[in-house]
Amino acid sequence: MDVPIVDLSNPNEDLVARAVVKASEEWGIFQVVNHGIPPELIRRLKEVGTKFFELPETEKEAVAKPEDSVDVEGYRTKYQKDLEGRNAWVDHLFHRIWPPSRVSYRFWPKLPMDYREVNEDYAKHLKKLSEKIMEWLSEGLGLRREALIEGLGGETVEYLMKINYYPPCPDQDLVIGAPDHTDVNGITFLVANEALGLQAFKDNHWIDVKYTTSGIIVIVGDQFHRMSNGKYMSAKHRATMDKEKTRISWPVFVESSLDHEFAPLRELITGEDNAPKFKPYVYKDFKFRKLKKLPLD
Ligand code: OGA
Ligand code: NI
Repeated sequence: MDVPIVDLSNPNEDLVARAVVKASEEWGIFQVVNHGIPPELIRRLKEVGTKFFELPETEKEAVAKPEDSVDVEGYRTKYQKDLEGRNAWVDHLFHRIWPPSRVSYRFWPKLPMDYREVNEDYAKHLKKLSEKIMEWLSEGLGLRREALIEGLGGETVEYLMKINYYPPCPDQDLVIGAPDHTDVNGITFLVANEALGLQAFKDNHWIDVKYTTSGIIVIVGDQFHRMSNGKYMSAKHRATMDKEKTRISWPVFVESSLDHEFAPLRELITGEDNAPKFKPYVYKDFKFRKLKKLPLD
């Protein structure tokens, strides 16, 4: 049993769309290959991010998350315990890459020099890919192709880049990189370096997500689970650490702006058989309650 891989270069678009929909219903996580984002750009994205994390700590602190900030943007090193009491150890960098009005370059590394150019280019390409996939997922619900993106906030939808930096760890029973979770946002697009570590939970098993050089891992998050009224799964996943290698991953979270209210899509709620399974939430309240592990419905 493996996380599905969908080849987007297949000229039969119906077939591709159906594979994406099926994977989102059954897994909530899949990998897309030949997706149209140039492999060279993905290679450079990984290169500039890796170079940033290899800078001395003092350089990285230049884009540190301010102590008093209520927002996620910036660099920080983190040490936490998961539910089983294991230590989680990871350094992060967060910065928005879209829309331009929500980009704060003060949180984008100044070094390496081409960091900004590469990330801007990636944002444009990723937005196209993301919108294509959201269109297929909308049609998979029997709706207009704009339905999901509009429900997420249309033009105000944000793309949040995160870089996870997991140092090598000799004892994997004691330390886990990212504890089990579902992503809180609409949909996530993740690339990683060659150190394995991402696992998806399916039918009571943790399944390793295979590495491909320029494939992109797509993870359906809580917002799309709820907006689809439960039809799309939000995949439970986690990241383990490698014994010898540093693992780095670059998820981009596609999400509502904080003040946007989202709910099961209205067009889906027709007749008694289709009562809404989830209540509406302003995204910031939803995020807060999830973070604090408060009941959500
Ligand atoms: C995350 C996440 C997994 C990984 O940051 O939400 O799931 O592979 N990361 O680093
Ligand atoms: Ni995640």
